[in-house]
Amino acid sequence: MSDAAAGSAIELRQLTKVYKAKEGDVRAIDALDLQVERGEIFGLLGPNGAGKTSTVEICEGLEEPTSGEVRILGRSWGEDSQGIRERIGVSLQETKFFEKLTVLELLELFASFYAKPMPLPELLALVGLEEKATQRYQNLSGGQCQRLAVACALIGYPDLLFLDEPTTGLDPQSRMRLWEVISSFREGGGTLLLTTHYMEEAATLCDRLMIIDHGRCIALGSPKQLIAELGAGHVVSLEAPGIGERLQAAELSSLASVRESTSLGDELNLTVEEPHVALPAILSLLREKNIELAGLSTRHVSLDDVFVHHTGRHLRDEEPRK
Ligand SMILES: Nc1ncnc2c1ncn2[C@@H]1O[C@H](COP(=O)(O)OP(=O)(O)O)[C@@H](O)[C@H]1O
Ligand SMILES: [Mg+2]
Repeated sequence: MSDAAAGSAIELRQLTKVYKAKEGDVRAIDALDLQVERGEIFGLLGPNGAGKTSTVEICEGLEEPTSGEVRILGRSWGEDSQGIRERIGVSLQETKFFEKLTVLELLELFASFYAKPMPLPELLALVGLEEKATQRYQNLSGGQCQRLAVACALIGYPDLLFLDEPTTGLDPQSRMRLWEVISSFREGGGTLLLTTHYMEEAATLCDRLMIIDHGRCIALGSPKQLIAELGAGHVVSLEAPGIGERLQAAELSSLASVRESTSLGDELNLTVEEPHVALPAILSLLREKNIELAGLSTRHVSLDDVFVHHTGRHLRDEEPRK
């Protein structure tokens, strides 16, 4: 077996990236270890500023790490950058193409970079842009631009594909189309590193994912595993002014079927095993304490709850950078 055929698709060891800035240094990635196996759809999930793009751009050879080791498809960038480049596909967080070129002209341009590009009719069908082939880039919708960027990433039959927030800002229909493109890439045996701040996207698409915050791994596993680690299947969310200070964690977690409580200001989240058992106990405690609720909801545990569990913040609080 050749060196390049051995090993994981991506191996990062103690990866660190510090940006020098006037206001002070920014530690965007902080001693991150990451291993993505071949054939995996691996997700980096985290809020804005977590270090996702920095990580991906180092893997793509577009940014230099401050320290740490990077191996892509068994090689390092210093050793064989051409070899890596031929086997990866990249779609950046933001892509700008020539405004006046048509979809077909842009794809022809990208096809010319590869010895054996995917036939363009096949590629257009894959990303659902057949009807837009003769449209200029400047007249495409956001979803169509994003699918075109993914088409450019797929054109050289990459073994390893990087998609940085491919569905941010897209309407639900465009998002579904991109999810289909990703599924068909997976069926062909490709490896994908995907970043997203959408927990549903990570839960639906990824075999495994790493939740990152401040450049550090806070949880790693399959979506199912991460959710199972919370030890309860449901969340009861209570809203009342200052509720987090008015109830003690210990008295909450001693209630029937309640596992854990997390206070988020005027919101209190309880992970519970059986809502029908926990709710009467919760309501009776609230009556005892004279706490009037402004709202109560129950839901299945999600990856957002995993994030809340580790950080005390919601993933959804932070809006993506435009
Ligand atoms: N070129 C840069 N110079 C200075 N700081 C940067 C630069 N690029 C990113 N950062 C900072 O590094 C952190 C991580 O950014 P990024 O990797 O883009 O996160 P994400 O993709 O998860 O939103 C943020 O605090 C961001 O402001
Ligand atoms: Mg980013």
